[in-house]
Amino acid sequence: MAGERPVALVTGASSGIGRGLAVRLARDGYAVGLLARRAGRLREVAAEVEERGGTASVHRCDVSEREQVLHAVESCSAELGPVDLLVANAGIGSHMPVEGLNGDETELVMRINFLGAVHAVEALLPTMLSRGSGHLVAVASLAGYCGLPRRPAYCASKSAMMSFFESLRLDLRHRGIAVTIVSPGFVRTAMTGGEGSVRPFMVELDPAVDRIARAIGARRRSLAFPWPIALPATLARSLPPALFDFVARRIRH
Ligand SMILES: NC(=O)c1ccc[n+]([C@@H]2O[C@H](COP(=O)([O-])OP(=O)(O)OC[C@H]3O[C@@H](n4cnc5c(N)ncnc54)[C@H](OP(=O)(O)O)[C@@H]3O)[C@@H](O)[C@H]2O)c1
Repeated sequence: MAGERPVALVTGASSGIGRGLAVRLARDGYAVGLLARRAGRLREVAAEVEERGGTASVHRCDVSEREQVLHAVESCSAELGPVDLLVANAGIGSHMPVEGLNGDETELVMRINFLGAVHAVEALLPTMLSRGSGHLVAVASLAGYCGLPRRPAYCASKSAMMSFFESLRLDLRHRGIAVTIVSPGFVRTAMTGGEGSVRPFMVELDPAVDRIARAIGARRRSLAFPWPIALPATLARSLPPALFDFVARRIRH
């Protein structure tokens, strides 16, 4: 029933971090709007939420398509009520060695990872501004802190996302709307190869979701984890370029 609970809209809710966060936010009392391309997966998440007494609505949508996102936000708001919390999480990975440098793939990565989040903000912000309340959460990445080998498109999409949401955080400061930028290192999901895959300082999905949910609950400005990657990533930008190149070329991912 619309209006009884605060409403969270989670993009990329069909798997991984988005799915985990949607279930967790429902447990925390939100009615959750679930958005992604695979409707069957979203229906499974909705069933899990409803089995636990929660409320969910399913919106099949490709976030790279502006009109689809505007329509999905409209139908989510009609079903559940105005959206209080956006988790802009939908994203794809991209591995692009220089021999395969590709403008089409770069455009796709930017359209999904960056513009997908912009489309959702564009759709939700006017209502949040008129209500004088809301919360925007960007699931970016530590890969957005600096360029990494073989990841030009992915790193660019995540740093664009971080700058965009940082600007919004400044502009929305006195408008009652919080902005949280989440920058994980490696989290075990389909994107990082799932079960059995080995990445530096990999965080399992449940503790990652728990950390992100707590940061959302506290309306933190940013969350970067785990610290053994977050700290060097934070310091990297202040290194002299030759030293940065020496260190960054040795990163295994
Ligand atoms: N896993 C990590 O180590 C890690 C680290 C840092 C940041 N992140 C970020 O965390 C976010 C979630 O990733 P994950 O690790 O949970 O990966 P995942 O399990 O592959 O989930 C990605 C989600 O994004 C959705 N998605 C992809 N393209 C979409 C599109 N065009 N329109 C709508 N939804 C789309 C997918 O749903 P459909 O395929 O059903 O559309 C899926 O629900 C991403 O933004 C990723 O960059 C992940």
